[in-house]
Amino acid sequence: MDIKALLDLADAQVEVSRQVEKRKSSLRGRTQINLFFEPSTRTQSSFEIAGKRLGADVMNMQVASSSVKKGETLIDTAATLNAMRPDIIVVRHHAAGAVHLLARKVDCSVVNAGDGAHEHPTQALLDALTIRRNKGRIEGLTVAICGDILHSRVARSNMILLAAMGARVRLVAPSTLLPPGIARLGFETFTSMSEGLKDADIVMMLRLQLERMNGSFVPSVKEYFRFYGLDQEKLGYAKPDALVMHPGPMNRGVEISSDVADGAQSLIREQVEMGVAVRMAVLEALASHLPNA
Ligand code: NCD
Repeated sequence: MDIKALLDLADAQVEVSRQVEKRKSSLRGRTQINLFFEPSTRTQSSFEIAGKRLGADVMNMQVASSSVKKGETLIDTAATLNAMRPDIIVVRHHAAGAVHLLARKVDCSVVNAGDGAHEHPTQALLDALTIRRNKGRIEGLTVAICGDILHSRVARSNMILLAAMGARVRLVAPSTLLPPGIARLGFETFTSMSEGLKDADIVMMLRLQLERMNGSFVPSVKEYFRFYGLDQEKLGYAKPDALVMHPGPMNRGVEISSDVADGAQSLIREQVEMGVAVRMAVLEALASHLPNA
């Protein structure tokens, strides 16, 4: 299934979620395990709600992560869960590639809910859905992804997906938070918000991922906000009808001011609603390929 078809399916799931009776039966009798090695609020709860709305039996597993014997622990966990015959496992892990490794060790479908600083595909899909519903298209739009790009799986998945859909993707960050060599992949990079946001249709802010930083990447949070935090003044560099996004959780006063986060141009709350719809679409698309579907 391609991106557009998934987004179309997600549009239909928005309608289901807005009804009083939200229950479908496409995953009835199926077992979905949410295996989270990292804390998460919105991603885990939206995968849980999505599975339940489709009629699946959903089990949440919060695994306290240990840095030792990572590979071994992960493979053992995979084998144990596999023996319980789940149909879908949704995995979040702090190590890039861990979800891919786990997928090779189990018989069921595996969904990546974020692996290290690598990828977060359903976040990019929900962002694309939110953009398409508000702007009517993705192709030809200028999207400025701003902030801690170096540590962000959200940025990586959005760069791939939005570029594939024909958007012009710009990356705006201090040079310490831009992955080395990223310009060679064809993305325009900027170290100044005034230049990077100029004529942007979408301003996508990222959380400063302090938990992934070993060493100092920014002089101070206060200085970071002054140069890279999105406030009304910096938003003024973008198009007058520009829309603001943030995957959450937000650090108010660090990468975004409260008045912008809660303002008329913000799509942040709508992104959360689209998160459930996109995850329903992904789970339903997988369900149609499960054995005995
Ligand atoms: C993101 C994540 O976990 O990668 N959050 C999310 O899924 N909503 C972004 C972040 O943690 O900053």
